Amino acid sequence: MSTTEKFFENIEKGYTTKGDYITMGAGMFNGEAVTNAFVKVPLKTLNRHGLIAGATGTGKTKTLQVIAENLSDKGIPVLLMDLKGDLSGIAQPSPGHAKIDERHEKIGLPFEAKGFPVEILSLSEQDGVRLRATVSEFGPVLLSRILDLSVTQEGIVAVVFKYCDDNKLPLLDLKDFKKVLQYATGEGKKEFQEEYGRISTSSTGTILRKIIELEQQGADLFFGEKSFEVDDLVRIDENGRGYINIIRLTDIQDRPKLFSTFMLSLLAEIYATFPEQGDSDRPELILFIDEAHLIFKEASKALLDQIESIVKLIRSKGIGLYFVTQNPTDVPDDVLAQLGLKVQHALRAFTAKDRKAIKLTAENYPDSEFYDTKEVLTSLGIGEALISALDEKGRPTPLAATLLRAPMSRMDVLTDTELNEALGKSKLIKKYNDEIDRESAYEILNEKIEKAEKEAEKEKEREQKRKTSSRRSSSSRRSTRMNPVVKVLTSATFIRGVLGVLKKVIR
Ligand SMILES: Nc1ncnc2c1ncn2[C@@H]1O[C@H](COP(=O)(O)OP(=O)(O)OP(=O)(O)O)[C@@H](O)[C@H]1O
Ligand SMILES: [Mg+2]
Repeated sequence: MSTTEKFFENIEKGYTTKGDYITMGAGMFNGEAVTNAFVKVPLKTLNRHGLIAGATGTGKTKTLQVIAENLSDKGIPVLLMDLKGDLSGIAQPSPGHAKIDERHEKIGLPFEAKGFPVEILSLSEQDGVRLRATVSEFGPVLLSRILDLSVTQEGIVAVVFKYCDDNKLPLLDLKDFKKVLQYATGEGKKEFQEEYGRISTSSTGTILRKIIELEQQGADLFFGEKSFEVDDLVRIDENGRGYINIIRLTDIQDRPKLFSTFMLSLLAEIYATFPEQGDSDRPELILFIDEAHLIFKEASKALLDQIESIVKLIRSKGIGLYFVTQNPTDVPDDVLAQLGLKVQHALRAFTAKDRKAIKLTAENYPDSEFYDTKEVLTSLGIGEALISALDEKGRPTPLAATLLRAPMSRMDVLTDTELNEALGKSKLIKKYNDEIDRESAYEILNEKIEKAEKEAEKEKEREQKRKTSSRRSSSSRRSTRMNPVVKVLTSATFIRGVLGVLKKVIR
């Protein structure tokens, strides 16, 4: 048997799946694609998160596009964070190209051109479905993390939320929050002191300054009504294809705080909303974060810990998170260690630092008798990548240099006319972009609060039952460290959607 035949057998065996899967391309040996040596990723392990890495221009974003399209075809909805604005073309069929045909011939897959059902969303005033969350929903814990507050300051934030909850005062935006904070040390000083203890002006001053900093990064655009319901991300079109939700984030590059606020809120909300999935054959929703280094840039330790916890937990809800970035080292080690699918495009060896990074990257991949990983890493062409996935049993598949299939949709952006057409078709724009007057906004939120209260009551009962049955010690590591005020509050009856998550995350 020739070595190529052995290679073929190795790929065929290593990438066999009983259940449904997506095909990434064909394995490559000695720099050439081995036709029909299909590299397949089972849908079953796609909730185990992933990484798409590689030097600029090597094909990361197209790989993201390929995976997203194939998931949509399988009826799995997708959310794309489009930081460079180069993904909207996914709504239109590829015009095709001789090179694409050649690529697919080598792989052994017929090429099919088609567009996909797309919903365009936005965090700012760009066109698209507006993504917002109210400060009330965001909750004291996330707000404290994002503002990087001390334990004392965190206690004050918790008191402000508690006061607003007790008095049914919805905190819609940051303005509302600042107002209550000022009230607590101003006109309302006595009232606050009697109910919740003394609040120091110097602490509220610091919190205010940090909120203003957050506002300067555009967070005031994000906080407010009408808040987005994450259920709207998991829609299927009339042909059974999953919607590809594209969040346009081109104006967010220099505002990492806004981006991390949004990501944290989204992940927490998804975690709170989606049911536990148990052992499932397919994921519920896959999220891709292009230019992912931006969420980790400038993130405080507390914030990173929070992100890591959520990444860990969200998997059991059938949610997969895929980071797309130039260098794997852009992603914190604890997150990297949790990733199931790795698609590594070429790395460039210009400097000593580059060479060190290549060595480190190579060490993170399983050994292969068919390649010298370090060598392959620098010799991969555009639209080729080293792949290591998890098979249905959760075992790593053999390392495969892969000639990737081409996107079925267009590899560039929509024209203005096409974009307007896509926006015109959107059902969500009507739901989220119509102005809500403040009165009705209050009502909507109050209804939500009451629902949350009932939910909290139920949760409390369940908790009580659990406690009596397991008789476990209730003192958590964190609460012993916490300000007494926070301790009281985290055991309070009031739970917001997001806080429900955080109670679990904290423990
Ligand atoms: N799977 C593929 N099939 C066909 N062509 C591809 C494929 N992947 C990449 N290409 C070609 O390579 C070009 C660059 O790819 P892409 O934009 O995905 O790179 P990138 O790694 O995301 O770059 P950057 O770091 O600048 O964002 C594409 O415009 C396309 O022409
Ligand atoms: Mg890119």
